[in-house]
Amino acid sequence: RNVFVLNGPNLNLLGQREPHIYGSETLADVKAACLALGDALGLDLDFRQTNREYELIDWVQEARDKAAAIVINPAAYTHTSVALLDALSSFDGPVIEVHISNIHKREEFRHHSYVSRRADGVIAGCGTEGYQLALRRIATLLS
Ligand code: DQA
Repeated sequence: RNVFVLNGPNLNLLGQREPHIYGSETLADVKAACLALGDALGLDLDFRQTNREYELIDWVQEARDKAAAIVINPAAYTHTSVALLDALSSFDGPVIEVHISNIHKREEFRHHSYVSRRADGVIAGCGTEGYQLALRRIATLLS
């Protein structure tokens, strides 16, 4: 089964960016760990990152034909993008929203997520392990 793992803006800087909040692992490390777990779970992963809102939306639309499920860390677009919510609402399979940090413990403007209105599950504050937890949940939902 094909699963899209989509990452939003500034996550390309993971490991260098505010490591006290996001940790020292890079996005390449996260990708490698996800691909290994995906193999074990029988999931074929398409792992991507972009800084562009329209590209995230295009990928979600692409997932309509190509993916059985989506794991998404929309980063700052979580809190701003009705367009991303609308795109996810056009997708039929399971969607799990991941945040490395606990957004509820942080600034007020991070407490609201547009994406959560569509997500079947939300994982926040579990560090990069959150991606692994999301993949395990996807495997359950697809089985
Ligand atoms: C984030 C949390 C967002 O508020 C922030 O804008 C990010 C990363 C997280 O993974 O904790 O860029 O989605």
